[in-house]
Amino acid sequence: MTARRDLTPSLIVVRIQPEQGSVPPFVPGQFINLGLPAPADEPGPLAARRSNRVRLTRRAYSIASSPRNADHLELLVALVQDGKLTPRLWPLDVGSRLWMDNEAKGSFTLNDVPEGADILAVASGTGIAPFMSMLRCHAGTGRWRTFILMHSVRTAAELAYRDELENMVHGGDVVYLPTLTREPADSPWTGRRGRVQLMLADRDALNIVPSSLHILLCVNPTMIEDVTSIVQGWGTVHTERYW
Ligand SMILES: Cc1cc2nc3c(=O)[nH]c(=O)nc-3n(C[C@H](O)[C@H](O)[C@H](O)COP(=O)(O)OP(=O)(O)OC[C@H]3O[C@@H](n4cnc5c(N)ncnc54)[C@H](O)[C@@H]3O)c2cc1C
Ligand SMILES: NC(=O)c1ccc[n+]([C@@H]2O[C@H](COP(=O)([O-])OP(=O)(O)OC[C@H]3O[C@@H](n4cnc5c(N)ncnc54)[C@H](OP(=O)(O)O)[C@@H]3O)[C@@H](O)[C@H]2O)c1
Repeated sequence: MTARRDLTPSLIVVRIQPEQGSVPPFVPGQFINLGLPAPADEPGPLAARRSNRVRLTRRAYSIASSPRNADHLELLVALVQDGKLTPRLWPLDVGSRLWMDNEAKGSFTLNDVPEGADILAVASGTGIAPFMSMLRCHAGTGRWRTFILMHSVRTAAELAYRDELENMVHGGDVVYLPTLTREPADSPWTGRRGRVQLMLADRDALNIVPSSLHILLCVNPTMIEDVTSIVQGWGTVHTERYW
């Protein structure tokens, strides 16, 4: 791990770098598997436990950085209190060693989205990570006509990348629509509140061209289900679930 930024006690941005060489090739939207040696008392396949091979607790993480940065991968990671891996990642600091797969995987990419299309990306929580990679790589290049990003989180502190995205909108091809669902009423936040369904209720305000629209949804399964039913007939839907 080469960098770590704590956004809240349960949300971090980390950078990881292979000890030798550059990061595995990837396209925006793909994920990488990370791991730590499994604790000796963690159940696993009998054959694996009997062999001398080091067993790993491995999990997938969407890559938030652009493939143009070949020296590191950036990840946005939420702590799952009773999870197997994240409570063990949390105490790690810069310089700690992790296992990282040597290939990126996944098909939640722009491969099936034609050049110049409109994109409506809806992210909940850490589901913004694959969209950051797409935006960091392609914003301002003509890859899409408009990329509308809706990001729903509970509180303002969880709006990872807010400053960067607010700068990106000046390019003219990115629209950033953050919304908070559990921000205290007396906080300084003056922006949108409530679930993404509120924004989706006014389709005309989004100024999209339905014939070329691709809708990308990541990550909360009930959000994906609910939004999919709203956007029926709006365009082609692509989804990524973490759980
Ligand atoms: C393709 C893919 C990409 C992923 N990308 C990311 C990512 O970019 N960032 C990230 O934090 N996680 C991501 N995950 C989830 C990640 O792989 C782990 O499941 C997560 O870190 C929890 O691991 P754990 O061992 O601590 O908990 P587990 O023992 O694996 O517990 C999993 C449970 O935790 C909950 N959970 C899992 N991930 C999250 C999350 N991000 N936010 C809230 N609740 C969650 C779900 O209820 C799930 O059933 C991704 C998963 C997949 C399949
Ligand atoms: N983030 C935290 O501060 C926090 C604290 C304690 C525990 N946890 C646990 O961590 C897990 C993940 O929390 P998270 O906040 O990262 O992710 P999350 O529960 O997926 O919430 C992220 C955002 O998605 C919204 N959302 C959830 N379901 C939706 C739906 N069906 N339609 C539209 N929007 C929807 C949430 O709104 P709503 O707020 O309206 O649900 C929130 O704004 C949860 O299991 C939670 O219990 C998180």
